[in-house]
Amino acid sequence: MLHTVICDLLGIKYPIIQGGMAHVATSELASAVSNAGGFGLIGSGNAPPEWVRAEIRKMRNLTDKPFGVNILLISPYAKDVIKVVLEEKVKAVTTGAGNPGAYIPTFKVAGIKVIPVVASVALAQRLERIGVDALIAEGMESGGEVAETTTMAIVPQVVDAVKLPVIAAGGIADGRGLVAALSLGAKGIQMGTRFVCSTECIAHPAYKKKIIQARDRSTVVTGRSVGYPLRCIENKLSRRFLEMEKAGASKREFDVLGWGWVWAGLIDGDIEEGSLIAGQIAGMIKDIKPVKELIEGIISQAEAIIASLNHKGSSLGMNPRDES
Ligand SMILES: Cc1cc2nc3c(=O)[nH]c(=O)nc-3n(C[C@H](O)[C@H](O)[C@H](O)COP(=O)(O)O)c2cc1C
Repeated sequence: MLHTVICDLLGIKYPIIQGGMAHVATSELASAVSNAGGFGLIGSGNAPPEWVRAEIRKMRNLTDKPFGVNILLISPYAKDVIKVVLEEKVKAVTTGAGNPGAYIPTFKVAGIKVIPVVASVALAQRLERIGVDALIAEGMESGGEVAETTTMAIVPQVVDAVKLPVIAAGGIADGRGLVAALSLGAKGIQMGTRFVCSTECIAHPAYKKKIIQARDRSTVVTGRSVGYPLRCIENKLSRRFLEMEKAGASKREFDVLGWGWVWAGLIDGDIEEGSLIAGQIAGMIKDIKPVKELIEGIISQAEAIIASLNHKGSSLGMNPRDES
């Protein structure tokens, strides 16, 4: 029932894509997602190209299913990682934090599917003209780098503006979110925060616990004033960042603080002085589950919702007579 064009494009069973998250989307998580019928992605983040090549090769031992690599365009290694991805001939790349326009022809020649993350209609249309294969429309609820528009608002606008299949991201963590995304015209979903709280994700247990303890308003966006807005769970570090911004800190001061803090939060589990990247949906996540259980639970919940919506006068709470 939930087979979409995204399943055909990527050769997967379910239209569920795992966000290519820096540091935590390693071959452990990505292979579990691909083996469970979704699309697993290695998050190259700011890792050097040798690490990315080793992870791709590990993936090939862990799964015979399709998988991809996320390229963070602001990484100092982005160009070298692209070279590795081309040499290793991965199935697809997603790109984050920027406009991948210049690299698209090279990927196309190599037969690699390109699926950029967009947060605006203008960028979506520009990338469609250059020739990408699909788009991930991401709302500001998401974990990681965020823009200004919500998922509910950006997804249908991108869907209306392009012919390409659109994947919805930001604030999705269960079957209700999947059905909502499909209702908005998306052909699949990408989830990040939910997959952090999976058994297979190598993220530090203390960071996972912070996601589980999070409530609806536990996240904040730091770095907006310096052009690198990052959504994370509020802690000592994020409060300090926000104070620095108020005091007019420059981009360079933030760069100095930079990436080490992300590693400290996600991998070392420093819950006060590390950056705890997570989306607003953290407030709804209450457990750590194996990826297979998680994906199958989302699919069966989505199918049950669709079936109930099809049933006249069902859970919509309508009087059956109103529908006739
Ligand atoms: C810990 C973490 C790290 C992330 N790192 C990246 C990244 O390196 N590149 C990228 O394109 N997106 C990154 N994202 C965004 C995810 O790929 C995904 O689009 C997003 O998490 C979806 O929103 P959600 O968190 O509400 O599910 C990251 C998200 C999280 C939670």
